[in-house]
Amino acid sequence: MSLSKEGSSSDHESRALNGARITPIRRSGRRKLFIITGIAGAIVVVLALALGLGLGLGLKKKTSNMSYVTTNSSFLLDPSFVVTNATTTRYYEFVISEAVGSPDGAERTMLVVNNQFPGPIIEVNSGDELVVNVINQLPNGTTIHWHGQLQNGTNYMDGTSGITQCPIPPGMNYTYRFTINPNQYGTFWYHAHASTQYTDGIYGPFIIHSPNEPIFGQYDREALVILSDWYDVMSSGLLTQYLSSAGIDGSNYGGINPGAEPPPDSGLINGKMTGSSFDLEPNLRYRLRIINMGTLTEFMFSVDSHVLSVVEADGTSLVPVDVHRVPIHVAQRYSVILTTNQTAGSYNVRGEMQSSCYKLSNPNLNTMVLATMTYGASPTTPNTQDWSDAIPALCLDLNSTMIVPQIAMDPPNSTESVQVFMSFEQTVQSGGTQTLAFINSTSWLSDTTNPTLLQMSKAGIQTAFDSNQLVVVNDNITVFDLIVNNYDDSSHPFHLHGHIFWIIGEGDGSYISGVRDTLTLPGYGWVAIRFITDNPGLWAFHCHIGWHMAAGLLMQFADLPSKVQELQIPSYLSDQCTQQSGGIVAN
Ligand code: C2O
Repeated sequence: MSLSKEGSSSDHESRALNGARITPIRRSGRRKLFIITGIAGAIVVVLALALGLGLGLGLKKKTSNMSYVTTNSSFLLDPSFVVTNATTTRYYEFVISEAVGSPDGAERTMLVVNNQFPGPIIEVNSGDELVVNVINQLPNGTTIHWHGQLQNGTNYMDGTSGITQCPIPPGMNYTYRFTINPNQYGTFWYHAHASTQYTDGIYGPFIIHSPNEPIFGQYDREALVILSDWYDVMSSGLLTQYLSSAGIDGSNYGGINPGAEPPPDSGLINGKMTGSSFDLEPNLRYRLRIINMGTLTEFMFSVDSHVLSVVEADGTSLVPVDVHRVPIHVAQRYSVILTTNQTAGSYNVRGEMQSSCYKLSNPNLNTMVLATMTYGASPTTPNTQDWSDAIPALCLDLNSTMIVPQIAMDPPNSTESVQVFMSFEQTVQSGGTQTLAFINSTSWLSDTTNPTLLQMSKAGIQTAFDSNQLVVVNDNITVFDLIVNNYDDSSHPFHLHGHIFWIIGEGDGSYISGVRDTLTLPGYGWVAIRFITDNPGLWAFHCHIGWHMAAGLLMQFADLPSKVQELQIPSYLSDQCTQQSGGIVAN
């Protein structure tokens, strides 16, 4: 075991312990209640309470003056949003704070954006400038990352703690300002990118419209389907256990198992375990934008009796393909077209959690998360049947032969390549062993006072990264092949910042043309991806399972160091790095 691994182990430990500090709830003197209009709504609530279903948010008795999480009444997109090539600047303000909520019926402290869960929707046109002033009212540092945004020329707006910025200190703000790539459109999301904070609720949808999107005009309405797994306690405490010698407290899960991820307590559709409803109109084509904002769980999504036509994967428009179920791993997005042309009534919407891929099982977890879709009738509890097709046992992506881009994008020939190996290893340190994640021999540890972007903006090609950073530097624009070998038995959803990539091959050696930003690396398998190193900055490539990234499963690509030195990094970025105190360890 090398010195650097030992060093990173103990740092991981102290980081986890720091992250677990108990902190007070910020009080706003207000409790928000959701408003239910109409007698039908009132009857539904009374029935739900009587049946003990619990509509989740807002219904539990709460004393006093804590802020209470609210949820949007509708996840239908506003059809009056003007989709246009004319660009504008759109402003948002995000207040990040602690609040109390009960998405699955169990009340807990959560981390939220503007007291909403999931967070507010960002809706823009391609080419728009976006300005989001993020105000941190948490007791710890935080950042917000815009998952899938290319950030060409604005690496310092990528929101990655320890890579593109320091955590925003408590009480301070960071203004994210960037231009949406004019050729990018589709379904995206945003989330905290500091330690496991997003697991506690800091996430929301980010939709880019464009009249140039090939599937534009092929649907009448749009709705969001946000899937997430959910824990009934703060992630910081679970992370401390996960990274400890003993592992997660096994008493609930049939024994001790060091290195096993904490299994979630529930699953949510649009922020609720039960009671989410899609109230649609008959005989329309709905574009459902499905986003997995979870931490560990792959979902299998379906709607009883309705065939889904898959038309988008991670911002790439696809040649439509009909399916009954869509597998969606952490951080991935799909759009499907659903036509409301069956018998009027209510249908089950299913997000089935693929718990067979957990290392620990949670006997109290209900893996079938249901919502109700209704059209042409008043909503009732559906008694519709699930599709009978078997569900695959491994947590893999939608068959890649189904991912055919509408606009052919043939990959150029590669000019450079590198091969890496990922694994989990027990590391020895004072006080016991710890299971950390490695890419080659590096377990990533975030430097929250000196992010790699700042280092490279000073030293350029000469930058000497510390032993906790695995950085592949490309000083020229190359067509780069990355081959990732998985020495672990589980599948891992890997995401690359700042680029889209072609999937060049995987496991069985097949050639695949798919283009996306998050793909699943099969257990004991391999994938090869290809991308162009033309975006100056430091870009994370990591497993999006929150626990794994916190255990170190991250490497970086540095494109064009000399151009990195020319980036116009705002002075508040480095100012905030000098304001990190020992107590603020956000990653
Ligand atoms: Cu969705 Cu590095 O993140």
